[in-house]
Amino acid sequence: MCGIVGYIGHQPAAPILVEGLTRLEYRGYDSAGLAVLGSRGTTAVRRVGRVRELQAALPSRLTGKVGIGHTRWATHGPAVEQNAHPHRSGDGRISVVHNGIIDNAATLRTQLAQDGVTLLSDTDTEVIAHLIARSEAETLEEAVLDALSRITGTYALAVLDERHPDRIVLARSGSPLIIGIGDKEMLVASDVAALVRHTNQVVHLDDGELATVTPAGYRTFDRGNSPTTREPVEISVAAEDLELSGYPHYMLKEIHEQPEAAAMVLRGRLDERFATARLDGLGLEPRELRGFRRVKILGCGSAYYVGQLGAQLIEDLARIPADAEAASEFRYRKPIIEPDTLYVAVSQSGETADTAFAVEEIKRKGGRVIGLVNVVGSTIARTVDGGVYLHAGPEISVASTKALTNMSLAFALLALHLGRLHDLSHADGDRILRGLQRIPEQLEEMLSRAAEIEPLAREIAKARSAFYIGRVHGYPVAREGAQKLKEISYIHAEAYPTSELKHGPLALIDEEMPTIAIIPDDELAERNLAAAEQVLARRGPLVAITHASVGLGHLDARTILVPKNEPELDPILLTIPTQLLAYQVAVLLGHDVDKPRNLAKSVTVE
Ligand code: AGP
Repeated sequence: MCGIVGYIGHQPAAPILVEGLTRLEYRGYDSAGLAVLGSRGTTAVRRVGRVRELQAALPSRLTGKVGIGHTRWATHGPAVEQNAHPHRSGDGRISVVHNGIIDNAATLRTQLAQDGVTLLSDTDTEVIAHLIARSEAETLEEAVLDALSRITGTYALAVLDERHPDRIVLARSGSPLIIGIGDKEMLVASDVAALVRHTNQVVHLDDGELATVTPAGYRTFDRGNSPTTREPVEISVAAEDLELSGYPHYMLKEIHEQPEAAAMVLRGRLDERFATARLDGLGLEPRELRGFRRVKILGCGSAYYVGQLGAQLIEDLARIPADAEAASEFRYRKPIIEPDTLYVAVSQSGETADTAFAVEEIKRKGGRVIGLVNVVGSTIARTVDGGVYLHAGPEISVASTKALTNMSLAFALLALHLGRLHDLSHADGDRILRGLQRIPEQLEEMLSRAAEIEPLAREIAKARSAFYIGRVHGYPVAREGAQKLKEISYIHAEAYPTSELKHGPLALIDEEMPTIAIIPDDELAERNLAAAEQVLARRGPLVAITHASVGLGHLDARTILVPKNEPELDPILLTIPTQLLAYQVAVLLGHDVDKPRNLAKSVTVE
């Protein structure tokens, strides 16, 4: 989704802004722009399409050493040049880039128009530029505060003013904004990916906070213009983590990073002596954890599906009622927040607006909420009461893979920890712990056989629609599998509990409707096989993602074999072939795998 970059220092700003915007391309966008302040005022350039098109359109002599840039993902108004950021005041003095949504933009637009202001775009952002320019305050900071007092909504803002070319003013509310500290230069970004080439020292602004950055430093303050204290922190992301490193796509790279990523989320968290997990970041004492009577997991999209898997792990191991819900719906159904429920927000980016709002709602009503989050210092990570970082490393591809695997592993750790505080025996705790230890190696083994999926991918690529089916532990795997295929291959895919097939969807089975069946070696294997026979009897092509011990030899099905682990952990491994299948189908169909149409990496608006 939208991305912000900014630079002020001793170097020409434009190349640094372009490089930063390129780093943010993975988030998804439809247009890009920048404004650079030089000795002859502001030069602003905007283009629909890729950052390289913006770069090609830049004038050759653009030497200004302060500037702001933006990648836009359309919300208010179509993806056309006049809607791209930066937006400027009528006299061109103020330039603004903005992430988020201004809720009262329509009212403000009407008021501005009545006051004789000509609005040049359909966006909510443009009103901010006009409001700042029309403020009678003396300083830019006060003018920004004036404007903010009139708007409601979410924002991360970076503002340039020709009258104050020595500074960029920033404001944050509900959308991330980070300052990168350099040597006599300062950077600004909505995502650390745009900063890592320049610095590992960053300052995360808090909601309701503003900042002024100059080449020499930064100053943070609140909505009352009182100073706040915000110390720099060190980030561990290296520039190489964001490179393709020889892979054709980030998605493939990230799929292959899973053994290492899995080892990272487990590292230092398995306690062999007590057959449990050590989760110091939870911030909850054993006594408090024992007191929870229910667990409610909230996430969106794939994170929600992994949440379902997590709920099953918690019920299986800790015997505490647990369920997962789409965070996007939670806040709107007037949820009852219970003091003896542990709420768990799960998110790769830590910036998904729907999940962040659900967290806020729970906190407002006094609930305890922990986070399973990948991006360190992200909004959700900073809002929750404690949590488990996923340590999957940066994930660039819009289609999530390694972060989801690490979410499942983090849920397994949480379930083990809770289980050992409840009824889970030492022997069972040890069994799960050993199972977790085997996972990185089993992932490695599966990925070494990735080529085996290619013939299947060729068949699925011909389909217009596909079913993914699974029961109990297999059902979240089926949901995630269908999601992955939809996202990047644009083939319609639907997930059903296998047991539901005969209650309706079976009517759609024919030679052209493939079914991908998740058939683990568990107590439901026989029933799963019976359902597979029903599909085959209707001449439906069948792909089984299964264990060697299930034995599908008598069926005319294609099989993808997955190494066996403990039944509770098997879904983690059963998901991997669905990633590879979706990836290979998308490549065969010639799609932009890492940036699927209409989708953004982190959905920072409702
Ligand atoms: C996953 O492949 C999707 N791109 C999407 O469903 C994603 O999982 C969802 O938007 C939640 O994102 P988050 O984990 O960053 O909160």
